[in-house]
Amino acid sequence: MLIKEARFLVSNQKADKCPPPKMPEYAFIGRSNVGKSSLINMLCNSKKLAKTSSTPGKTQLINHFLINQSWYLVDLPGYGYAKVAKTQRAKFGKMIMDYLATRENLMCLFILVDSRIEPQTSDLEFMRKMGEAQIPFCLIFTKVDKLKKQGSLQLIEKYMQSLNDDWEELPQYFISSAEKGTGREEILQFIEQIN
Ligand code: GTP
Ligand code: MG
Repeated sequence: MLIKEARFLVSNQKADKCPPPKMPEYAFIGRSNVGKSSLINMLCNSKKLAKTSSTPGKTQLINHFLINQSWYLVDLPGYGYAKVAKTQRAKFGKMIMDYLATRENLMCLFILVDSRIEPQTSDLEFMRKMGEAQIPFCLIFTKVDKLKKQGSLQLIEKYMQSLNDDWEELPQYFISSAEKGTGREEILQFIEQIN
């Protein structure tokens, strides 16, 4: 899919203040620093559409971007970041869950996980929650440019196998690198099919 136009629309703390749910929407979630904002920029061929940082906890609001005047991409804050105060984490958690539970135009949630690390409890719990709430999601393994060539895909396969016990049907997954543009076509094609 060709991205002809990508523009920032609005940032919100509250789900009910988000733009009217009249267009298909795709949101990006995952632990802080996993690369959500960088991936949105990569998909949109932009360096600074979404704000990124090497310090975890950069994205703190629900950010809507309008793509080709016909669908939304949404950048969300990270979950499970230990250095954020407990009260703040609970606030983020509630904001995210309110958003996910009420956005009737959410076509798919992309849950990002770092391709270099073992399955994390916070990610597995979050996936379980999404299953219970019947929110459709896919996985995206990020930062594959940082993987050593040998054995890299085995790591991802092992990750998927570990989900087997929990899920009757495994979620679809993509591999990505915001640095190298890996996965861009596949993810955009997936979105185009649903749109
Ligand atoms: P929060 O908003 O804090 O939750 O983080 P985020 O998930 O939006 O991560 P962000 O996109 O800000 O990226 C975090 C750090 O990872 C930055 O230093 C990025 O440059 C780096 N990064 C993101 N994606 C990639 C990637 O594909 N490859 C490499 N090498 N670095 C990446
Ligand atoms: Mg971010």
